[in-house]
Amino acid sequence: MDKFVITGGVPLKGTVTISGSKNAALPILFGAILLDTPFTFLNVPRLQDIKTTLKLLALLGVDVTLNNDIVHSKPGNLVPEAPYDLVRTMRASILCLGPLLTRLGHARVSLPGGCAIGARPVDQHLKGLQKMGATFDLQGGDIIGHAPKLHGARISFDMTTVGGTENLLMAAVLADGRTILENAAREPEVVDLANFLVSCGAKIHGQGTSVITIDGVQALKGKNYSIMPDRIEAGTFLAAAGITHGELLIKDCPFRALETVIAKLRAMGMEILETPEGVRAACRDERLHGIDVQTQPYPGFPTDMQAQIMTLMCLASTTSMVEERIFENRFMHVQELARMGAQIKVSGHSAIIRGVEELYGAQVMASDLRASASLVLAGLAAKGTTHVRRIYHLDRGYEHLEQKLSALGASVERVEQ
Ligand code: UD1
Repeated sequence: MDKFVITGGVPLKGTVTISGSKNAALPILFGAILLDTPFTFLNVPRLQDIKTTLKLLALLGVDVTLNNDIVHSKPGNLVPEAPYDLVRTMRASILCLGPLLTRLGHARVSLPGGCAIGARPVDQHLKGLQKMGATFDLQGGDIIGHAPKLHGARISFDMTTVGGTENLLMAAVLADGRTILENAAREPEVVDLANFLVSCGAKIHGQGTSVITIDGVQALKGKNYSIMPDRIEAGTFLAAAGITHGELLIKDCPFRALETVIAKLRAMGMEILETPEGVRAACRDERLHGIDVQTQPYPGFPTDMQAQIMTLMCLASTTSMVEERIFENRFMHVQELARMGAQIKVSGHSAIIRGVEELYGAQVMASDLRASASLVLAGLAAKGTTHVRRIYHLDRGYEHLEQKLSALGASVERVEQ
């Protein structure tokens, strides 16, 4: 198991290029199940979750090869079984359920268990597919689905769900007739998935709004698609510029998709400018200012940036507040930040953060992907040396983070524990 050893206090300077989006790449790669032609996926991030997805696709009978940031896929004889060993390492594996059901009429997918940031059920995925004609049984922890032929339906989600919207979208593109998804997720990654499907001949309208209409087609065929840049990775580098009082040029930064995050970082005192070369981010104020943030579905403030912005708040000159409204257990970074001198009080879904002048290096432990990013940010700003353990969480979602940070002047080393 690797850890990061970070010596803080260096203002980051230079240029960094953002990789392809993990959360867009996962559903889009599962879309390979739907295709009748060989396909090339471009700008795929080199991450553990992508490797897991490709492993699963290979088990499901799709012929996939990875070459740097390019994935080639060829249709093969589909096998409708996603085993627990893979599903338990990546919840997003559930995204193969819609594509398998619509292609084969049956599927056996292990039920993803709970995870560190909350229970995360998949009831909305199943309810939607049932409305399209599927039936489900639970056997030995596996969801067994049957649907001789999925048909269009009007599906209204009880809550905004990114994965639910994506699963239903993929099921509906090859179903009979029209499907209307109401209260659909508007996240840019959902739009990227819809745009990929449209590029392969799917008939989809309304992506990016809360009502998406899909008219089923007979088959999907295409050539290639380039995955959007990762807005959370980009947001994390913006935060890194802020917390180290550095100056960065961030290339391939999805500025529009980050508008809410950028507005909050500006309110904290950062200068962030969109230029033809990329997004320029700097923090010239001596201290950041405290702000309030409430996580919400897009276009609200993303829960995946909550831990990172909280770390900036730890060093602000005034008090801040965070309200987490998406997941029930997403403050696990708080205890670790406290080990570095942060003053945070959690009460239910809210946290009050009293800014301190300095954070101090410590031994800390990553608990989930974005919590790990927050500890790295804290380490970059802290006095002394920080050891971030269990960085396998980070490797699931950040491509070559230590290399990218080192190139900007940070002192970050990956060390075997
Ligand atoms: C996706 C992202 C994740 C992000 C999250 C919210 C991927 C691979 N992951 O996760 O990084 O933090 O969106 O933006 O894209 N829920 C139910 N029943 C369901 C589905 C969801 O109760 O059937 C609840 C969840 O427990 C959670 C909320 O709805 O409280 C939002 O979850 P959802 O949007 O589905 O998140 P994911 O797709 O799992």
